[in-house]
Amino acid sequence: RPQREELKAKAAALLKAKNAVLVSHYYVEDDLQDLALETGGCVADSLEMARFGRDHASQTLVVAGVRFMGESAKILSPGKRVLMPDLDATCSLDLGCPPDDFARFCDAHPDRQVVVYANTSAAVKARADWMVTSSCALAIVQHLKDSGQKVLWAPDKHLGRYIQQQTGADMLLWNGACIVHDEFRATELELLKADHPGAMVLVHPESPEAVVKLADVVGSTSQMLKAVVDGAAKEYIVATDNQIMHRMRQLAPGKTLIEAPTAGNSATCKSCAHCPWMAMNGLQGVIDCLERGAGEIHVDPTIGRQAVRCIDRMLDFVA
Ligand code: 13P
Ligand code: SF4
Repeated sequence: RPQREELKAKAAALLKAKNAVLVSHYYVEDDLQDLALETGGCVADSLEMARFGRDHASQTLVVAGVRFMGESAKILSPGKRVLMPDLDATCSLDLGCPPDDFARFCDAHPDRQVVVYANTSAAVKARADWMVTSSCALAIVQHLKDSGQKVLWAPDKHLGRYIQQQTGADMLLWNGACIVHDEFRATELELLKADHPGAMVLVHPESPEAVVKLADVVGSTSQMLKAVVDGAAKEYIVATDNQIMHRMRQLAPGKTLIEAPTAGNSATCKSCAHCPWMAMNGLQGVIDCLERGAGEIHVDPTIGRQAVRCIDRMLDFVA
């Protein structure tokens, strides 16, 4: 603990000295969430991270999250310096959607609006008409459906299917999945629900269909957080990365939070629902990138100029 406090103080001093701001996702470790809030940064979902980074006056952004979040920040603010604690922090959805294969998929379906999830590379975004995050995907696809458009969706199959079911839109889905949310299990969740009959079940839509069907609230990380803060229930079963519970505990201290069961849950694996790439972010990484300029994000300017259109379209839509 003393060592962590020292590292935190050093990281805070460096953020100040370099006029930098820390933008953290709800899935990164407690210290990085707290440090962001204590130093004028933010802890947010992927939509809010993008908006905060774009609007903040600071010319250096430190993005604690996964690579696509750093890339989105750089695409939106090409003149800013965007640093990440660990550039190897990626995402299974991004890895599962290689730009060349995706371009072929798009070429084969020119009659469809190309809608991509934020969890993709800059090159995939460069090919898209719309970028969406889990907090606005439903409204954007509903808008496309209402204006008579057919959709090509990538990469998360579970989120795509959920939106298809909710909106009735004509959607062609890429076959990608999140390795964390894909592990939640419905049978075990039903048993847990039976043990906690008053609990409200919150599920991120990257989870399998049978798990989503058991939810009281299906939503993005920020929507799940809001459900805990505003909800009348005392207990909440949470099906997303368990690091979100840090912020939930801070904002709703009287509520009981229960981790939803995953395929890997056992006596030896008490916290399976944690993204291994989000876990690569740490205080030392923040110090290293600020001290030595390690972990700087670069996006090819031509790709960036193409990719920014689909992000701006989303930000204009939600404004
Ligand atoms: P949010 O957009 O809800 O923050 O989700 C990002 C993510 O990576 C979920 O796994
Ligand atoms: Fe990607 Fe899943 Fe990790 Fe989110 S939790 S960054 S979707 S692998």
